[in-house]
Amino acid sequence: MSKVTVVGAGNVGATVANVLAHKDIVNEVVLVDIKGDFAKGKALDTWQQAPVDYYSTKVTGTDNYKDTKGSDIVVITAGIPRRPGMSRDDLISTNAKIVVSVTKSILKHTKNPIFIIVSNPLDVMSFAALKASGLDPKRVMGMAGILDTARYRAFLATELDVSPKDIQAVLMGGHGDTMVPLPRFTTVAGIPVTDLIKKSELNKIVKRTQKGGGELVKLMGTSAWYAPGAAAAQMVESIIKDDGRIFPVSAWLQGEYGVKDMFLGVPVQLGKEGIKRIITLKLNAQEKKGLKTSAAAVKKVITDFKKMKLV
Ligand code: LAC
Repeated sequence: MSKVTVVGAGNVGATVANVLAHKDIVNEVVLVDIKGDFAKGKALDTWQQAPVDYYSTKVTGTDNYKDTKGSDIVVITAGIPRRPGMSRDDLISTNAKIVVSVTKSILKHTKNPIFIIVSNPLDVMSFAALKASGLDPKRVMGMAGILDTARYRAFLATELDVSPKDIQAVLMGGHGDTMVPLPRFTTVAGIPVTDLIKKSELNKIVKRTQKGGGELVKLMGTSAWYAPGAAAAQMVESIIKDDGRIFPVSAWLQGEYGVKDMFLGVPVQLGKEGIKRIITLKLNAQEKKGLKTSAAAVKKVITDFKKMKLV
């Protein structure tokens, strides 16, 4: 039996539940929202899609944390999204309180879940969930890298007129404009991307990726949900299947890449206990510098979070 709770029935949370149900790999998905009827409605809609799209995953909605009892994995998407002109960091005063309170409510009914955080500012909200839960840091992680890499891969697929399926890439750092896409670790069907595209074009794609979330906020007036939801569902799938897949994930670092006591996006292998191992790449001087800048940007927001004295 496997049970996944998704907290927040907004666009991202509802998409996580819907994509996960389509994968048909867990027995039950519980969608929780303070707006209980809204969660019930979104869940019922996804359940009514089951006979058409052919899955058995039971999807229910609730505003009562009792219904989350015995969850193997909890995905937290609760909080407010960005509006045009806002950075993810501007969300901290509202979202930190929500993430801390949600984490504690979950733990009242489930002792040792795996948390996947999606709420922004992502790396700092992962920090908040770890501190509020006191869980083994392997069991707390943030979803950003799969989404950011997906944007990078999609842009490359358009530019090179190839299938996005054939593009493999690594991207590191925080989920913000300082994120570090890594062209040296990007291939198209095994061919180094640097052999296929002019440096100036690649640089444009790297820059567009760094502001990829903001591009969507500008277009829609709110932040994205299809790719973010699918990315979180992919992490759930990998943990449930324990298939040893490697993804960029916001993970608790203890000296890896010279970073300590904070969450930052790095390549990890996922497994049934959460983060199975952190993979250490040999970065060159420029890549190291990018990562250091990104870590410093996240650290600054952690300081703001600590000042709130929520944990
Ligand atoms: C984005 C939000 C989900 O990058 O952080 O679209």
